Amino acid sequence: METRHSLVRRMKKQMSAAIVLSVLVLCGASLVLRDGGRKAVGAETQAEAGGCYEPVAPLSNVMEVMNDIFYKMPDRVKSAQPKDFKALKRESFFVAEIANLAGRVKDRCSNKEWVEIATQMKTAALGMAEAAGKSDGDGFKKLYDKAKESCSSCHDKFRD
Ligand code: HEC
Repeated sequence: METRHSLVRRMKKQMSAAIVLSVLVLCGASLVLRDGGRKAVGAETQAEAGGCYEPVAPLSNVMEVMNDIFYKMPDRVKSAQPKDFKALKRESFFVAEIANLAGRVKDRCSNKEWVEIATQMKTAALGMAEAAGKSDGDGFKKLYDKAKESCSSCHDKFRD
């Protein structure tokens, strides 16, 4: 039979196990909440997300090369050969990556509006890659126009 003393000891043990467990659960929950919070503030600047970097090249030069590719895309859509859609897919990924990069450029990445427009361009270009992957010319064109809007809205606001 259990003595009163050992019963108290066992209860104490169980209670401390319960406390340790709840602390762990709370830590886990706060981690999940923090990550969820981070996602919810997707519009936060890259600076706050810690994703800025210093490019080695002038942004205008990078943009010019991307521009050459970007403005040849409608011809590829017209031609609509399998090789054109293949090219459109990888070129769209390239444009998306330049947008991703633009959003992280030091000196700009703490500007919320800048990051928002760069994100719009990235999202549109990723959609273009997907449409090209499905040889969906009409879908591609719609997203291409969206991407184009992001070019002009950023230039209107930020290019001197
Ligand atoms: C987030 C902002 C932003 C987006 C989005 C953006 N640009 Fe730019 N772009 C700039 C800035 C700022 C400059 C000027 C950079 C400089 O002079 O240092 C520039 C420069 C350029 C240039 C260099 C020549 C010039 O006229 O200054 C070209 C070409 C260009 N962009 C094309 C594009 C195209 C095409 C897109 C869309 C597919 C695009 N850009 C999207 C910000 C942006």
